[in-house]
Amino acid sequence: MKSQNSFSNSQFVIAPSILSADFACLGKEVKDVLAAGADWIHFDVMDNHYVPNLTIGPLVCEAIRPHAYKDGKPAVIDVHLMIEPVDRIVPDFAKAGANLISFHPEASPHVNRTLNLIRDQGCQTGLVFNPATPLDHLDHTRELLDLVLLMSVNPGVGGQSFISSTLNKVAQVRARLDRYQMDTGRHIRLEVDGGIKVDNIAEVARAGADTFVAGSAIYDKENYADVIQEMRTALDKSGKA
Ligand code: DX5
Ligand code: ZN
Repeated sequence: MKSQNSFSNSQFVIAPSILSADFACLGKEVKDVLAAGADWIHFDVMDNHYVPNLTIGPLVCEAIRPHAYKDGKPAVIDVHLMIEPVDRIVPDFAKAGANLISFHPEASPHVNRTLNLIRDQGCQTGLVFNPATPLDHLDHTRELLDLVLLMSVNPGVGGQSFISSTLNKVAQVRARLDRYQMDTGRHIRLEVDGGIKVDNIAEVARAGADTFVAGSAIYDKENYADVIQEMRTALDKSGKA
């Protein structure tokens, strides 16, 4: 079973998406962003089938695994599968060092079976909801979920603008996850992905998110530590810290 300590319930997580990193020196980019204060690495997998773009796979996850360390411990590699089908490649990502694997329910004909497959491989699970995807799947999967990922852009590329109607969806999911935690004592993380910037991260936190993917907002900047610190300061002032 993978080390679970990377999933402490400490409040906020900042997870830079390496989609916006310099792919010519990806190991260094992973090392640098974690040293600059990031918590996780968000690993965007696209297959040019489920989304109109093609990115990286298990080989690249394996390549960055030895570089993804924080305070001497393996940092969470948060694999976001924008692929269809899903199941066949899950064991490959688990072997390559993924800690959390999330997928889109539209991409799996058997969502419960895919969630169990991810768990059986020793990884944490996530379900990803596109801007227009209803939340109904949450009613039947909460006991198998470690994270819910709400897309605040349509998946496929980095650098898009935040879709503001996501805030209402974040609040709805936060209410459901809080109720579930009250009933079961189990914490499920709420991650938002797409168009997260220094100037909107506090609002997204106030809506109820605790885990934030940011690609271009971080990797397009010269100094990763400065922008991550600005995000943390904004989160501290959000009233949710
Ligand atoms: C989009 C990806 C996102 C994206 C975020 O399909 O899932 O993780 O890389 O990039 P920014 O933060 O630039 O919107
Ligand atoms: Zn993503």
